[in-house]
Amino acid sequence: MPTLIVYASKYGCAEKCARMLQDRLEGAVLFNLAKDETANLEDYDCIVVGGSIYAGRIHPKVARFCARNLDVLLQKKLGLFICCADLARVDEQMAGAFDERLREHAAVVEHFGYEYNFAKMNLLIRTIIRLIAKIHTSQSHIAEDNIERFAEALR
Ligand SMILES: Cc1cc2nc3c(=O)[nH]c(=O)nc-3n(C[C@H](O)[C@H](O)[C@H](O)COP(=O)(O)O)c2cc1C
Repeated sequence: MPTLIVYASKYGCAEKCARMLQDRLEGAVLFNLAKDETANLEDYDCIVVGGSIYAGRIHPKVARFCARNLDVLLQKKLGLFICCADLARVDEQMAGAFDERLREHAAVVEHFGYEYNFAKMNLLIRTIIRLIAKIHTSQSHIAEDNIERFAEALR
């Protein structure tokens, strides 16, 4: 049975990472929590759940998906990923993003790096990023090695 990759992304980085992972896992199916309606989790032996961190929290649709499907996810081969820019706080942000039971059950837990995509941000968010992160142009720091290692753990 193929892998289901469930994700949510505001500015495109987690989506790009989900696609990069899909390319590495034969037959994997993408499920965008912002668009797709329902997935029958019973159709998959392996499920990946991932999303990005904003103000210390995982995308709310990812949090909701995990809370609603906790029991099912604990019965699957599981992979968890986050995209986040504060690489010094990956462990802490991962702990806040996913329930401890999911993290302990998962075959693999990784961060996939981050991007700042100014073209997709509104003026307010662009201004906040400029002031707080001191970033003034779009940047891409996707951790391809981590995606490769993650895929390897699920093959
Ligand atoms: C409004 C905003 C808040 C953010 N807050 C955090 C944060 O608290 N910690 C962190 O590590 N990265 C933070 N980031 C960086 C994002 O996690 C990073 O840009 C990520 O790649 C965005 O993912 P997306 O393109 O899938 O939406 C923030 C980015 C934005 C735009």
